[in-house]
Amino acid sequence: MQISNGKTFLSFSEALSAGIAGTVPAFNWLVPLLDANGADEKALLTGADRLRAKTMGNSVHLRGLIEFSNFCRKNCHYCGLRAVNQKIKRYRLSETEILDTALKAEKLGYKTIVLQSGEDLHFSSDVMCGIIKELKNKTKLAVTLSLGERDETTYAAWKKAGADRYLLRIETTDPVIFKAIHPDSDLEYRKNCLYILKKLGYQLGSGVMVGLPGQTSLNLAGDIIWMYKLGVEMVGIGPFLPHKETPLREEKGGTLNQALRLVSVLRLVFPYAHIPATTAMGTIDPLGREKALEAGANVIMPNITPTGVRPLYEIYPNKICLDETADKCFGCVTARIIGLGRTVGTDYGHVKRNTK
Ligand code: 5AD
Ligand code: SF4
Ligand code: FES
Repeated sequence: MQISNGKTFLSFSEALSAGIAGTVPAFNWLVPLLDANGADEKALLTGADRLRAKTMGNSVHLRGLIEFSNFCRKNCHYCGLRAVNQKIKRYRLSETEILDTALKAEKLGYKTIVLQSGEDLHFSSDVMCGIIKELKNKTKLAVTLSLGERDETTYAAWKKAGADRYLLRIETTDPVIFKAIHPDSDLEYRKNCLYILKKLGYQLGSGVMVGLPGQTSLNLAGDIIWMYKLGVEMVGIGPFLPHKETPLREEKGGTLNQALRLVSVLRLVFPYAHIPATTAMGTIDPLGREKALEAGANVIMPNITPTGVRPLYEIYPNKICLDETADKCFGCVTARIIGLGRTVGTDYGHVKRNTK
């Protein structure tokens, strides 16, 4: 395969080794890389793995994920938590349960917890400020929020309360696809949320799903270019997995290989970003997370949600780790990381800035 860097045509391996990593991403090389197959695909994955070793080292950072409420005001066409789905029992963890879960995580060795929920306004600006402050007082954990779209005042209050990072996937930057799957979201509003989060000084994560209906490699390349301009420091991606209680139940969904190629391309574009091997990749293939860690990823986000409510946070079907405890998953991912010849990160794994 030949790839143009805008001036000359390079062979695939030349492009990987000599030319494109860390440069301004352009459609003319993103698309062929996203579509690579056979030996080219292999070269892409190995090249990204090598670059990861150089920029991020061998350690894999663990982020403990607490899914503390499955209430959601929205009706995204792909997600099992959508408001109109009456087949799931809704739950909210109490503030004490959240704190206890965090304390346990810290004891296990976690340095970061991620508080994730549906868009649940019960957790108002003030309620969340209380929780963030309590966590910051009682633990030394870095706190990442993943609570969807809110207004600038709220994001600012949470930052002031001590939140370190925010994750908000853009899902897709294609206006037609975005509109088709988000009956109650607006692409420009969501982009603006990300601009605000960036301006407020959060360590910022975004990402997309791969394999959405109608999505092409050209769309994914556009997503990457948009995230590059935004300046994301963490990028979480995964295959779209159709859920039977949603309008997209009959769709095909994404594949592991599509997701792996995207991880690798992201590593080339963002040499210093934190890129997780996501649960969706572990769901579509028992070794999906390992494969992602060997294609450019350097983070895992084990579930530390109390086991009793885990099955209720069913954004997609057959999610892994539903019967496991936080201790079990911690042991499991640690063993898998060591099995790959890597180590578990012992520092906070804050984002590396200004290192483009
Ligand atoms: N398949 C894969 N990923 C999904 N998400 C939500 N629903 C699905 C699904 N059916 C992802 C979205 C969201 C993240 C928390 O989970 O990208 O941002
Ligand atoms: Fe709600 Fe997020 Fe699911 Fe959309 S993706 S329905 S906002 S939990
Ligand atoms: Fe949960 Fe392996 S990560 S059991």
